Amino acid sequence: MRAKIIGTGSCLPEKIVTNETLSAIMDTSDQWIRSRTGIRERHLVSSETETTLSMAVQAAREALSDADILPQQLDLIIVATVSSDYITPAAACLVQKELGACHAAAFDINAACSGFLFALNTVDAYIQAGIYQTALIIGVETLSKILDWSDRSTCVLFGDGAGAAVIKAAEEGMIASLQGSDGNGSDVLVCRNRTNNNPWISTDKSPDYLYMNGQEVFKFAVKKETECIQILLEKAGMEPEEVTYFLLHQANYRIISSIARKLKLPPEKFPTNVDHCGNTSAASIPILLDEIRKDRKLSPGDILLLSGFGAGLTWGAALLRW
Ligand code: COA
Repeated sequence: MRAKIIGTGSCLPEKIVTNETLSAIMDTSDQWIRSRTGIRERHLVSSETETTLSMAVQAAREALSDADILPQQLDLIIVATVSSDYITPAAACLVQKELGACHAAAFDINAACSGFLFALNTVDAYIQAGIYQTALIIGVETLSKILDWSDRSTCVLFGDGAGAAVIKAAEEGMIASLQGSDGNGSDVLVCRNRTNNNPWISTDKSPDYLYMNGQEVFKFAVKKETECIQILLEKAGMEPEEVTYFLLHQANYRIISSIARKLKLPPEKFPTNVDHCGNTSAASIPILLDEIRKDRKLSPGDILLLSGFGAGLTWGAALLRW
């Protein structure tokens, strides 16, 4: 048996922040952001009650309803996030409580923007091993709280949001997958946690904000994602033309179009939402998947190739039949 996605959901904060709004509070412009990234606007949390948990739960409820699955039927919940409301407990345990998913094991995955794919691959492995049959996976981020709002080169790129998928064991679904990591690149995209703090250490360091070497990440993304797609198709014995849609991590329109060009494929095969969501990290692929499902662009049997990259460095990809 393999993992099959049977329902999707998403949640974006109500507040929309356009490039023009950012231009009013920092030295940037719509022209710069749009030409470098394709981003026009992003959604950001705007109240104390809009949290990583609240967005995750809303996306999860939508996905469960779409799948026609009750929370009590879930035997696994995985949340992929780097911006949980708590260091402990795991966001997945809090989602479990909110949903009343009393039979599910629940834990989080930290693989940055590749997190949703790591979660999907983990569920597929559990299903192949016969351990679990029905799972909920969520990619969710409130990245706005770890951004340095005085660093225009990073803060304009990201957005908040959540995307979820319900997965069931089925004869057909996942065709092939891969994931990988390279800790040697850990310093190009990084956000430090609390530093050592006990009665015997004096430290005056406050928590850090997200730092990114944009050009290094750009080069890595184009090379690694193109490579992942080629390896995965080869593994499955499929041609790129057989794929209905390539759903890539929504970091930057220029990265996506460079990959499409390298693969000699038309841009129509690469749907995007980076223009109105920005980079929502672990949430980006499931939000895009949910948008496409809601726009009725998917039919049973369609082939989807999901692929992403992120801090770690990490990368992941999954080829599946809808
Ligand atoms: N508005 C206006 N100017 C800005 C700016 C902003 N928001 N951010 C940076 N600049 C300026 C820089 O200060 C620099 O000015 P200078 O030439 O006077 O020094 C200039 O624009 C060029 O900066 P640079 O960093 O070279 O731009 P770039 O063309 O590499 O684009 C990124 C920057 C971040 C858009 C690009 O590198 C990128 O998209 N990288 C990948 C990021 C990514 O995908 N991250 C997600 C990981 S999951």
